[in-house]
Amino acid sequence: MARVLSRFNDGIMARVFGHEIIEELGQYAEVPVVNGLSDLTHPCQIMGDIFTAFEHKGRYEDLKIAYIGDGNNVANSWINLAARLSLDLRIGCPEGFEPNAELLQKAKAEGKSEIRIINDPVEAVKDADIVYTDVWASMGQEEEAAQRKRIFAPYQINEELVSHAAADCIVEHCLPAHRGDEITDAVIDGPHSVVFDEAENRLHIQKAIVVKLMAS
Ligand code: NVA
Repeated sequence: MARVLSRFNDGIMARVFGHEIIEELGQYAEVPVVNGLSDLTHPCQIMGDIFTAFEHKGRYEDLKIAYIGDGNNVANSWINLAARLSLDLRIGCPEGFEPNAELLQKAKAEGKSEIRIINDPVEAVKDADIVYTDVWASMGQEEEAAQRKRIFAPYQINEELVSHAAADCIVEHCLPAHRGDEITDAVIDGPHSVVFDEAENRLHIQKAIVVKLMAS
């Protein structure tokens, strides 16, 4: 399939479950392969997220980022970003829902960022410049949704939790959001939210990725 798609197209973007599918496409394709989301990482999302942070905070580095929720593909991509940019990254997740240990170890070994797993959401969010969350049950985990809702309840981004972050913090969410679960209406529609700038920036950053990979 990678070889055939390469004959028809200048690039391939694939959104998959198994990360090995992306790797295999990359192995056999003759055109650039972009990870549009896998169960391991979501790199295009994180580029839009840090660009949005840049627009609001004026810098890419030396930001305190509190990712609150599931240690999933988005959390793993924040960790990959922290391997490249100097960040203070806290992952606030319940025990048993930590991000990928191998990516975490690699990112820590780069020595650019402070990266901590903090199970207490209030401690994780303390003085943060960016408060971030994602759904508690990702695509493919729908059957676990009810159980996860109970486990993740203390990790909801609500006004009380945001009050522990920096007074001028921004709140990001990769969308789609489950309002009333991982984030309340008051926060997603509130003064700290940059969620719709972030959604728009997915388009702009995607164009930048296409230029970088495909402009001759
Ligand atoms: N963690 C979510 C991200 C959606 C943009 C998922 O994989 O479904």
